[in-house]
Amino acid sequence: MNRRDWIRLGLAGSALPLFPHLSPIHQRSDQPPIRLHSNENPYAPGEAARTAILEAIGETNLYPYAHYQGLEAMIAVREGLRPEHVVLGTGSSEILRMTAMAYGLQGGEIVTAYPTYEGLENYANSIQAKVHRVPLKEDKTLDLAAMDSRTTENVKLVFVCNPNNPTGTICDKDELDEFCRRVSRRSVVLVDEAYHELATHPRYGSSATHIRAGKNVIVSRTFSKVYGLAGLRVGYALANLENAALLHRYRTAINVNIMALRAAIASLDDRRFLNYSRSQIETTRSETIRRLRELGHSVVESHTNFVFFHLGRPIQEFQYSMASHDILVGRPFPPFSDWCRLSIGTEEEMSKFFDVFAEVMNTPTR
Ligand SMILES: Cc1ncc(COP(=O)(O)O)c(C=O)c1O
Repeated sequence: MNRRDWIRLGLAGSALPLFPHLSPIHQRSDQPPIRLHSNENPYAPGEAARTAILEAIGETNLYPYAHYQGLEAMIAVREGLRPEHVVLGTGSSEILRMTAMAYGLQGGEIVTAYPTYEGLENYANSIQAKVHRVPLKEDKTLDLAAMDSRTTENVKLVFVCNPNNPTGTICDKDELDEFCRRVSRRSVVLVDEAYHELATHPRYGSSATHIRAGKNVIVSRTFSKVYGLAGLRVGYALANLENAALLHRYRTAINVNIMALRAAIASLDDRRFLNYSRSQIETTRSETIRRLRELGHSVVESHTNFVFFHLGRPIQEFQYSMASHDILVGRPFPPFSDWCRLSIGTEEEMSKFFDVFAEVMNTPTR
């Protein structure tokens, strides 16, 4: 097998049977696909991260203790917290797993929105924790009032994805603050802020303020999105001391490697790349939304690097048709079986998407 065959085998998702939400659909030709299915950053990595990765090669024989503590300290300073409040993860996926285990074992029940990012629910299912799904509101935002009512005595964890994947919507910051204050007296509230750096709307606010106030709230973040380090796998949680100590119990020792640590440290200070990456995504997202609306599709306002739009035909069939043209689009998100989640690629990639989209939908484009 050559290198290309190994990559193609990986693309078929054969290594991911335990994580159905992460298994991409099989592409059909030898062309490298256009990847509009996993909310990756097409502009990355930035210069500072590249340099850091290259420098780290000379240190791969050493355990990265100093860089591990360095990243924890750097995140803590930026958040106005002490390093003990920061828990690093192998991507924020590991944070979701640690949290599911910390609060879902021993009969702890979990409340989550539906649909939302499935990572936490999948980990909860793997340890047989009971999960209560609360449907989104008509406008595809989280129904915080209903989630609050569902948080009964046995519920140990409430999962809030803000901005939400797959809809791209945000919670109103005052409403979410009030929710966190009220619900965190009864249960831990985990707020997944994977798209935090892209959410610039004045009605968006991070829930990290509650951790500074010592509340029972955990925030998870990632370097996979705006920083573009998805392939390196690094994320983190912010938590009060009690919750952070509990998460550490379920963490693998030194779970982030030297390249990921050094690239993350370099990325945090690379304002230029962050601004570039954000503005490219925003510009291409606006244009994508404009074109989809022009074609008559209803599109949810997005605060992320993807859009969720009404396709008007079964998403699974569409996903296969697009894959046969080497364009990968988002997986099905029931119950919205005729909606599509589309990641924002480069301008050129989106232009190819629209060409193929027209062919597949048999709709003329401009
Ligand atoms: C909302 C949300 N949370 C968590 C993740 C997991 O990302 P990672 O493990 O790369 O940090 C994703 C990935 O797409 C996501 O969209």
